[in-house]
Amino acid sequence: MDKGVCEIFEVGPRDGLQNEAREIPVAEKIALVDLLSRAGFSRIEVASFVSPKWVPQMAGSADVLAGIKRADGVRYAALTPNMHGYEDAVAAKADEIAIFASASEGFSQKNINASIEEAFERFAPILEEARHVDIPVRGYVSCVIKCPYDGVIAPAKVAEVADRLFSMGCYEVSLGDTIGAGTPDSIAKMLLAVRDVVPVGRLAGHFHDTNGRAIDNIDASLSMGVRVFDAAVGGLGGCPFAPGAAGNVATETVNAHLTALGYKTGLDQALIEEAATMAQQMRNG
Ligand code: HMG
Ligand code: MG
Repeated sequence: MDKGVCEIFEVGPRDGLQNEAREIPVAEKIALVDLLSRAGFSRIEVASFVSPKWVPQMAGSADVLAGIKRADGVRYAALTPNMHGYEDAVAAKADEIAIFASASEGFSQKNINASIEEAFERFAPILEEARHVDIPVRGYVSCVIKCPYDGVIAPAKVAEVADRLFSMGCYEVSLGDTIGAGTPDSIAKMLLAVRDVVPVGRLAGHFHDTNGRAIDNIDASLSMGVRVFDAAVGGLGGCPFAPGAAGNVATETVNAHLTALGYKTGLDQALIEEAATMAQQMRNG
């Protein structure tokens, strides 16, 4: 049965590789992105312009953006926490950028050394600059269910942060279950609150699979109207500042699941599986 279109936003080269213990050479990252570019994605997050002291794994991001073969119709995205990162991302010709906020104070402090309020003060000039030069900005909300420092997070708090990101100009808000604590029930309750303030067509689900519930949580999100899901080939991923943040849900699993349900993703499963094997080999060296 044809259920319409779902998009997978590939985040493997960023969220997947930012947490790997091995120092992965830039050439390997470029090879992974080039393979992913052939698989049919519209958007791939390939870089992160954060402090190399905080996340040394992402230090070669400008070289990655300079070295990849850019495919027509693919937007290459970069994560930026502040103007410093934004300027580096623009200089490296990222096609779109992502800012990242948290629904919990504890994670915000640990992740970016700033309160939620201070994070928004840093985001305001980014949105203003990006608007002038027509660069799309995506917003993340982390810890939408539970925070490793503050515990359970109220859906109303997630809705408040998502609303702020959307109102200030983010074209899409990706809701991060950073430590994979969600269940179909808690995800549905959270989405009910967020859908009230951000149109569901502008929301994405970003599920880490710590507890093996990411696919169930995608199903819960589908039934609430979400049609964009972040995933990482090979199930790599995690956040260095969120203990318990295991891999992102694997792109190859999500694509097979969505296709079996009758959604069209436009992705080449064989190429994704090839990329998943490559990503897992990169982990081991
Ligand atoms: P800070 O130490 O408070 O920053 O870190 P600062 O402003 O005091 O600057 C300290 C030094 O960092 C200075 O250099 C700055 O120039 C430099 P120094 O004078 O010491 O040589 N600096 C930078 N360098 C490069 N790029 C920059 C940058 N900014 C300042 N953009 C900061 C604050 C935000 C920089 C730091 O905390 C940081 O980089 N945090 C990033 C953490 C991160 O990347 N976490 C993972 C991504 S989030 C995630 O994975 C969740 C997500 O997947 C969704 C989900 O799953 O929930 C998105
Ligand atoms: Mg993540």
